Amino acid sequence: PTGSLARGLAACEASCGGERRKLFFCEVEQWDSDEPIPREDLEQGMAGAHGLLCLLSDRIDKKLLDAAGANLKVISTMSVGVDHLALDEIKKRGIRVGYTPGVLTDATAELAVSLLLTTCRRLPEAIEEVKNGGWTSWKPLWMCGHGLSQSTVGIVGLGRIGQAIARRLKPFGVQRFLYTGRQPRPQEAAEFQAEFVSTPELAAESDFIVVACSLTPATRGLCNKDFFQWMKKTAVFINISRGEVVDQDDLYQALAGGQIAAAGLDVTTPEPLPTNHPLLSLRNCVILPHIGSATHRTRNVMSVLAADNLLAGLRGEPMPSELKL
Ligand code: NDP
Ligand code: DGY
Repeated sequence: PTGSLARGLAACEASCGGERRKLFFCEVEQWDSDEPIPREDLEQGMAGAHGLLCLLSDRIDKKLLDAAGANLKVISTMSVGVDHLALDEIKKRGIRVGYTPGVLTDATAELAVSLLLTTCRRLPEAIEEVKNGGWTSWKPLWMCGHGLSQSTVGIVGLGRIGQAIARRLKPFGVQRFLYTGRQPRPQEAAEFQAEFVSTPELAAESDFIVVACSLTPATRGLCNKDFFQWMKKTAVFINISRGEVVDQDDLYQALAGGQIAAAGLDVTTPEPLPTNHPLLSLRNCVILPHIGSATHRTRNVMSVLAADNLLAGLRGEPMPSELKL
């Protein structure tokens, strides 16, 4: 990647009695490229740093924390997902963590619904048919997909984004919502009359499954061969959480063998997915490049929140969004 670590000073200002006062300065080393910082540059640049503002593509593990040294007091990630952070190690060292919950919920839910409709109504295939001459006439059974009206939707993880997805899907005429999680969430579920069920039950009874949980040891590989075998042959599977929640080899077999109807993925393992990956050869699999939160406004708000979290952490003040460790 092209890019360099640029040094500069950042000033944090506050209004005091109508006056703008500079309260706090820090030296900033910034990787000035949209491409990820190479690991070596990150490790070298971190030596002695007090704070880090990172992206979900930066793996913050023991080696990096060792490279940073004892000065490191705060890590601020421009993401709600924190699975790229070695949280146990971070906690052990007394380092505080800032993240960006809430501000990306709407954008991500909007993308999840777009991906679901794109997948279940086979839009990429249909667009391709128009371009390649496959559209010869209006035919009763051609390009038929699956609709949301009267359907059962299962949501894996009825958190902020899971609820926002259900809220958007309800007006499409969904008949029944099911959800899984570590425990029932009766208050949140009431809005959708959503029923808390076991994972096998959710897989077996849903026409559409949307995975919106966080990636944890318990959810890693949750959607595997068994899960896809429990699903209906006509069901559509959507994942907007993290690629590692899905066993992609098992998903490929389920899609290629007609075990399930289709899948839409905004997240994969690895990212980017190699262009020769078997999943990309399937007509019934729609893959997006992790764009859940990618609206101009959302990314701006996320970056400001990440910067505010970092500065508050450096000052030893409460962060706007601090992860409880
Ligand atoms: P929340 O913390 O609000 O929700 C996380 C959900 O995960 C909770 O409902 C929780 O349910 C559920 N969960 C945890 N463990 C399990 C489990 N073992 N089985 C089933 N569900 C479980 O986070 P958000 O809704 O804000 O974000 C969720 C995730 O979405 C993020 O962690 C991130 O990975 C991903 N994301 C992806 C984006 C994209 O661009 N594609 C954008 C933003 C987020 P409970 O507490 O009831 O167990
Ligand atoms: C997150 O925030 O965790 C997303 O994956 C990207 O916005």
